[in-house]
Amino acid sequence: MHEVALKHVGYSYGTSQVLQDITFTAAAGDFICLLGPSGCGKSTLLRLLAGLGSPTSGSITLDGKPVSGPGLDRGVVFQDYSLFPWMTAGQNVVLALEQAFPGKKKSEYRETAAGYLELVGLPDAGDKLPGQLSGGMRQRAAIARAFAVNSPVLLMDEPFGALDAITRARIQDLLLQLWQQKEGERKTVFFVTHDVEEAILLANRIVVLGLNPGSIKGVFEVDLPRPRIRQELYLKESFLVLRDRLVSVLHENILSELDGGQTVRSAGEGI
Ligand SMILES: Nc1ncnc2c1ncn2[C@@H]1O[C@H](COP(=O)(O)OP(=O)(O)OP(=O)(O)O)[C@@H](O)[C@H]1O
Ligand SMILES: [Mg+2]
Repeated sequence: MHEVALKHVGYSYGTSQVLQDITFTAAAGDFICLLGPSGCGKSTLLRLLAGLGSPTSGSITLDGKPVSGPGLDRGVVFQDYSLFPWMTAGQNVVLALEQAFPGKKKSEYRETAAGYLELVGLPDAGDKLPGQLSGGMRQRAAIARAFAVNSPVLLMDEPFGALDAITRARIQDLLLQLWQQKEGERKTVFFVTHDVEEAILLANRIVVLGLNPGSIKGVFEVDLPRPRIRQELYLKESFLVLRDRLVSVLHENILSELDGGQTVRSAGEGI
C-alpha cells in the first residue's frame, strides 16, 4: 500500500517531448485508470513509475521517496508482456517469486507459480515457452507473474488487450479480488486501457491524457458502488453519463489533434 505522487512530470525522447506537467497523486489503495489516444505517453508514464527511466523534469515519489529504479514494491505487466523468451511460463513466474520471496524451497515456488497460472486459466502452460503460447496466453502468464509477486503497487499497461471477452471479464474480477483483499491493505494500481467501460468498471479515478505532448485533460472520480456487477452497471444512469463524458473528452482530444489544435476546448471543464 503506497501513495504515488507525480509532480510536474515531463519526459522527452531526445528532442521530442512526450509528457508535460503531469501532476497527480494516487492515494494508497487507489485504482487509477489511464485513458488517452495512442502515442500520448501512457506506456512512457508507466515505465517512469516502474523506475525504468527518470522524468526529464519534475519528480515521482513513492510514499515521499523518489523513485530511482525498479523495485519489488511495484509489479509490472507491460504492453508487450515481457516474459523471458528462453524460460517457460512456469519458470518466468518462479523467477519472479524467487526474487520477491527469497529463501524458500524450489518446490514451493513451483507450486505457487502453478497455482497462479491455473488462476488465470493456464493450467497446462507451465512447461511451455512464451513462443509456444498465443498472445492472450502470454499476456495471462505475465499477469500470473505480477499477481504471484503480490506487490503493493501494480502497474498494468493494457494488460487485458489480447484477451477474449469471457477471459477478460474473469481476469478483471480476479484483479479486483486481489486489489480489494482487505480494507487497509489495498494495492495502488495504475492501469492503462483504451476501453472506457473497462476503466469505469475497475477504477476509483480515471485520468485522461491528451496528445502532443501528453498532459492531463481531466480527472474523473468513479463513485459507483462496489461490487460493480456488469449487467447492473451498464444500465445505471451515472455509468452512462460518465461514459459519455469520457468518450467526448477522448474525441475532443483526437479532433483537436486532427485539426492541428485549432479546436481549442478545455476538455477538463466542469470536472
Ligand atoms: N524509445 C523511444 N524512443 C523515441 N520515441 C519513443 C520511444 N518510445 C516511445 N516513443 C514515442 O513517445 C510517444 C509516446 O509513446 P508511448 O508508447 O508512451 O504511447 P502510448 O500512449 O502508450 O501509446 P499506445 O496507446 O499506442 O500504447 C510516441 O510518439 C512514441 O513514438
Ligand atoms: Mg502504450
